Formats: sequence, structure tokens, C-alpha cells
Amino acid sequence: MAKPLIAGNWKMHGSLALIEEFGRAFATVELPAEVEVALIVPFPYLAQAAQKLASVGVCVGAQTLSDQPSGALTGEVSGDMLRELGARMVLVGHSERRSLFHEDDQAVLGRIRAALAVGLTPILCLGETLEQRDDDRTEAVVLGQLEAVFDALDVDERTRLVVAYEPVWAIGTGRTATPEQAQAVHSAIRQRLVGYSSALGENTQILYGGSMKAANAADLLAQPDIDGGLVGGASLQVDDFLAICQSAG
Ligand code: PGA
Repeated sequence: MAKPLIAGNWKMHGSLALIEEFGRAFATVELPAEVEVALIVPFPYLAQAAQKLASVGVCVGAQTLSDQPSGALTGEVSGDMLRELGARMVLVGHSERRSLFHEDDQAVLGRIRAALAVGLTPILCLGETLEQRDDDRTEAVVLGQLEAVFDALDVDERTRLVVAYEPVWAIGTGRTATPEQAQAVHSAIRQRLVGYSSALGENTQILYGGSMKAANAADLLAQPDIDGGLVGGASLQVDDFLAICQSAG
């Protein structure tokens, strides 16, 4: 069984003060020992987050990275730089990156390779739009995004990813997938991973994301193939985020 992981994705929100608040809160609560917790913060907050949160057991991650190790690429940030600031994880292929910043499967693969090359754990995000779901193409789209990366990696590299299923229509909309809808896609992802190897299917953490909040987390996390959550809006409220972390135990 994959260990539960709850990752908060702050997107372009938050502040140094909020990191302080999370640091204080995590120092005083007791979370179930088996639950891993991560906060995925904007680049400028990484160093502070790593300093305040690592000591209270929270892993820190970034929201994207360049596919290049260095270069004349104004505005880009390399995996080594993220590592140097204390990041251990990085989101790749979030639907906002795919749609707003035109990252296709090739771009996603390049970033996954760049993350793996420097020892960052990539969280590979997959998900269908409402139109694709209505056309009955959910599995084809999600598994296509998965295969575009996993087919290109070697056996060892495949073991170093976290996968997040985030239906695009559920992100930031308040409209969560039902536990049954989410479980059906998670199960299809798990089966596809088993196709690479049974150990990969068993050990890969598959997170659900899309309007996960304190009120619906327990039902989602109770599904057999949902190993954790990628939490946007609710990760900006310390009490909500802690409640989600508690329900993963
Ligand atoms: P949400 O965002 O929880 O606000 O829907 C999830 C995500 O985009 O990772």
C-alpha cells in the first residue's frame, strides 16, 4: 500500500506570514505518523518554507521548473535552484500549466526528466476537461497523459513519481468528483501502472485533486485507490488543511 500524502498547492497565493502561521500550527498538532504532508509554495517562499516547515515534518515543493539545467532563459527556474532552496518535490503538468502556459505532453516529459535528474520528486498531474468527460473520453485522456511520461522513462525512474488525478472541471470550482467517479479513474490509473509492473502499481502514490476540502476529504480518501490529496483552495486555511491531513490517517 502506498503511504498517504496530502500536498497543499498554494498556486499564486500566500505570504511569508502564512508560512509562519503554518509552521506554528504544525509544531503543535500531532498528525497520524504514517501521513506525509507537503506544501507546494510559490518560488519566492521556498527558502522560508523549507526553514520553517522541514523541522515540523512538512516537505516543501515547487509548482513548476524549467526543463533545462541552466541557460539564457529569462524568468525560468532550474531544478538545482529549487533543491538549493530546500524543495524536495515539484508539480509537473498541473492543468493550469497545461492550459494557460501551453505545456503539452512533450513539455511535461521534459520537466519530469529535469526533476528526476536532480533528485526532486515530481508530482505528475493528469486530468480531463468537462467536455472530454461528457464525450466519454476521461480514461483515454488521463491514461494518454500518463503514458506520454511513463512510456518514456526507464524502470527505475518510474518508481520516483507521484501521480495526481485532478479533473479539470473540479479544480477551484467547488464541484468535487464524487468518491465513485474519482475511484473509477484512480483504479484505471493503478491498473495501467500494474501493466508496467505490479510493484509500481502497488507503491505509486495516486492523489486526488479538485475541490478537496475538510468536509469531503474523508470520503474521498476512504476509496481503495486514492492515496492522498492535492489540495488547492483549502490548503490556504491552516485549520482546513490540518483537518484534511488528519482524515488521511
Ligand atoms: P482546488 O485546487 O483544491 O482549489 O480545486 C486543486 C489544484 O489545482 O491542485
